[in-house]
Amino acid sequence: MAMNKTHVPTAQRSVLGMLIDDHREAQKLFKEFESAKDDAQKKQIAQRACAALTAHTEIEEQHFYPLLREADPKEFGSLLNEAKVEHASAKDLIAQLQTMKPTDEMFDAHFTVLGEYTNHHITEEEDELFPKVVKKDIDLRDLEAPMKETKEAILAATAHA
Ligand SMILES: [Fe+2]
Ligand SMILES: [Fe+2]
Repeated sequence: MAMNKTHVPTAQRSVLGMLIDDHREAQKLFKEFESAKDDAQKKQIAQRACAALTAHTEIEEQHFYPLLREADPKEFGSLLNEAKVEHASAKDLIAQLQTMKPTDEMFDAHFTVLGEYTNHHITEEEDELFPKVVKKDIDLRDLEAPMKETKEAILAATAHA
């Protein structure tokens, strides 16, 4: 079940809204890949998805997860540990994809599995983690600006890579 950002209270809305928008964008790209017409299109979609996921995991790891762990280690600790393992699996697949060409026999399999892992992780965040953040009324408002700044810096760097 996907979380609907319009029901998120003010103290969490901007940050959870930003993360939920990222999730939808990633899911859209994985869907688009399924109907890609040729290798050039596959490559372009995969590059966009990898860049978006890299920026997204980074802003969660640099800003969002540490604030939650600090706010309530007992409540968030094990979920955040799982998130860390899931992010590591995604980063590993992204690193492999970045060395591959869409003509490689295993390219589609790598991207498809990345999509499956990503969907699983998104479900955990939106069904378990984010509702806890709302329930515990964690104030995320100070994170909005630094998260945007970090995201833009990473996207700018990957665009020039
Ligand atoms: Fe996320
Ligand atoms: Fe995450």
